Amino acid sequence: KTSFKIAVLPGDGIGPEVVNESTKILNAIGEAFNYTFEFTYGLMGAEAIFKTGNPLPEETLQICKESDAVLFGAIGDPSFDNNPDAKVRPEQGLLKLRKELGLFANIRPLKTYASLIDKSPLKREVIEGTDIQIFRELVSGIYFGEKFTDEEAGYAYDICKYNRDEIAPIVHMAFQEAQKRRKKLTLIDKANVLDTSRLWRKVCKEIAQEYPDVELDFMFVDNAAMQLILNPKQFDVIVTENMFGDIISDEASVIGGSIGLLPSASIGNENALFEPIHGSYPQAKGKGIANPVASVLSTAMMLDYLELDQAAEKLRQSVEYAIENKYVTVDLNADQYYSTSEVGSFIADYIKYSEKSYYN
Ligand code: IPM
Ligand code: MN
Repeated sequence: KTSFKIAVLPGDGIGPEVVNESTKILNAIGEAFNYTFEFTYGLMGAEAIFKTGNPLPEETLQICKESDAVLFGAIGDPSFDNNPDAKVRPEQGLLKLRKELGLFANIRPLKTYASLIDKSPLKREVIEGTDIQIFRELVSGIYFGEKFTDEEAGYAYDICKYNRDEIAPIVHMAFQEAQKRRKKLTLIDKANVLDTSRLWRKVCKEIAQEYPDVELDFMFVDNAAMQLILNPKQFDVIVTENMFGDIISDEASVIGGSIGLLPSASIGNENALFEPIHGSYPQAKGKGIANPVASVLSTAMMLDYLELDQAAEKLRQSVEYAIENKYVTVDLNADQYYSTSEVGSFIADYIKYSEKSYYN
């Protein structure tokens, strides 16, 4: 297969700017490797609420379902963040999209770049050489359990529930990833308190029988929050439930030096969505200062998913080349920096020219 339908959902804030660099770079990949990427754009998030009243219009969902993969920017807008009582919210669009597309596994890789180590507030010797893959369950747990408010009794409820079928698929995926790496899997849970965590442990132990070459260990989430920044190198692959994964992945992003670098993939059986970990960063909207690297590396994960291995490898090399040569946005070098689109164009051009000279 050489032609791919990509749904593009730029979303809110800096989303459109960073996604624009990703599509630019995909076009460069297409030229260099003879692939065609056909982009279809959809509205989502606050943008979609302002225009249609719906954070995930039916048309957008349809575009996603008909695509080979979804490229997503960011959602969120100050007019909602400052109003937690708003009934219609941008986040609902993203949660519904994850559920509708069955994107049960959110994968967040975390690595340090040699030239950026000193950007992290953590000590060099603590973080240098960190290489972690976080597998976060994405379509169940407390995010999707029944929620209601009993005004009369003065209670609010968010039910956290899991069954075996919601746990097993992502656990298998995490074991398989560990097999390709340093063969260590850590389940992060709260099994000393929560029944759902005890079920996760049970299912993990059973599944472990099928992966005897992988060492499985368990860590309570409070301790894990500490261990992640005390000694991140002890981790290889982490698997965890929806909300713990949300929290520890933001924490872990500090290790990389800038949240503007971190990509993610959300994978289901039929479709997959790729988005930077950072949010919509409304203060930077339209200023051309957003770091496009997280979106671009999410695009590299998309190329992995589409099994375009060489192209994915090329893209990652090109990003590393840009970073190591200080062709970066202001978050990474305040003394000398380039705009969002300059960094994107630099990477796109590097892909085109280095591929050409390779073949000539
Ligand atoms: C994330 C975000 C979302 C989440 C929000 C925007 C609903 O924080 O992707 O981590 O909590 O899953
Ligand atoms: Mn989050």
